[in-house]
Amino acid sequence: MARGNKKPAATKAKPQKQSRPNTSKEIENSDSTQSVPLALQQKCLDIFQRALKPGEDDTKVLQEVKGHLYNRDFAAAFGQDDYLRVYASRWSPSRALGYLQVLIDVQDVLFQGSQASVDSEDQAYKTVCLGGGAGAEVVALAAWIHRQDDDSDVSPLKSLQADFVDIAAWQNVVSSLHEAVTTPQELSKYASAAAREANIAMVPGNAYSAKFDQIDVLALDLSNWQERLNQVDLVTLMFTLNELYSTSMAKTQKMLAHITDCLAPGAHLLVVDSPGSYSTVSINGAEKRYPMHWLLDFTLIGSQQSREDGDVPAKWEKLVSDESKWFRLLQGLRYAIELENMRYQIHLYRRLPD
Ligand SMILES: C[S@@+](CC[C@H](N)C(=O)[O-])C[C@H]1O[C@@H](n2cnc3c(N)ncnc32)[C@H](O)[C@@H]1O
Repeated sequence: MARGNKKPAATKAKPQKQSRPNTSKEIENSDSTQSVPLALQQKCLDIFQRALKPGEDDTKVLQEVKGHLYNRDFAAAFGQDDYLRVYASRWSPSRALGYLQVLIDVQDVLFQGSQASVDSEDQAYKTVCLGGGAGAEVVALAAWIHRQDDDSDVSPLKSLQADFVDIAAWQNVVSSLHEAVTTPQELSKYASAAAREANIAMVPGNAYSAKFDQIDVLALDLSNWQERLNQVDLVTLMFTLNELYSTSMAKTQKMLAHITDCLAPGAHLLVVDSPGSYSTVSINGAEKRYPMHWLLDFTLIGSQQSREDGDVPAKWEKLVSDESKWFRLLQGLRYAIELENMRYQIHLYRRLPD
């Protein structure tokens, strides 16, 4: 997809000065305004129901997964096929709805300056979702494309290519959900002609291609990233960055540096994570805890926010930042098991020309 070079305006004013983190800073909690119709949100939940078939029988497995997550033993929590299906059916649906709202909230910024009339295969909007195996991003992106239909004359998003990259073996979850969003639902043989006519896929298969790669993103070298991020428009790190920081601060910084080197000007990096996530950094033998968003700003922008500020121009500009928001589930949504509201922090950056 062609990207424009126009400088988009920040959507939410936040102090952009880099300073020592204030750990006692109060975090505000704004609610995101819901703009996705209930029917589309229900359609997303139905996709999860159809593809992953959550139900009462999952209770025991769900308890085991919760136990591993509580102990922060992610290798165990994501180490078995039945755990993955149950995790994705329990935690990914509400996240998918939250991410859909996030994408809609930021799309004007993402598409600002885009000259594209994106209607051919090789001009698809290219997205790489790091830590994106659990299915929330698969469904959110599908619903995002679907939502553009309402605005088809002005939306540059006509087709999308997504690469889901994750260390755990999520391929079955990704392919089941991708199939569910790109194929019409199976109807009973008694379904009416009207129901058959209305029964269309959330997105046509040719508008949404998905690929899954089981990879440790912290182990990729520069040439791997060059290949993976060639012509990519958007990289996402949804509820994954803090996990990566916890695994290895140094490797995560290196990964972000590679992403910076390999993304073209105009590409975006979207980070969503739990609010108030901290990571411990050891500096000269002393351990200090820093907020995740501060570390991220420090790595991407350093001590400069503007290219005019100093000798070394910043490689990113921060367009959207909120340290705590709520995505609350609408009343009236139906799903086989309990779902939760999502509280999150969000940061969106745009790669600047070198
Ligand atoms: C909390 S889950 C979030 C999943 C999904 N992005 C979402 O928002 O629902 C974190 C994900 O990051 C993945 N992950 C953790 N470390 C990773 C690594 N080093 N390389 C790739 N993926 C990793 C996990 O396997 C898991 O799927």
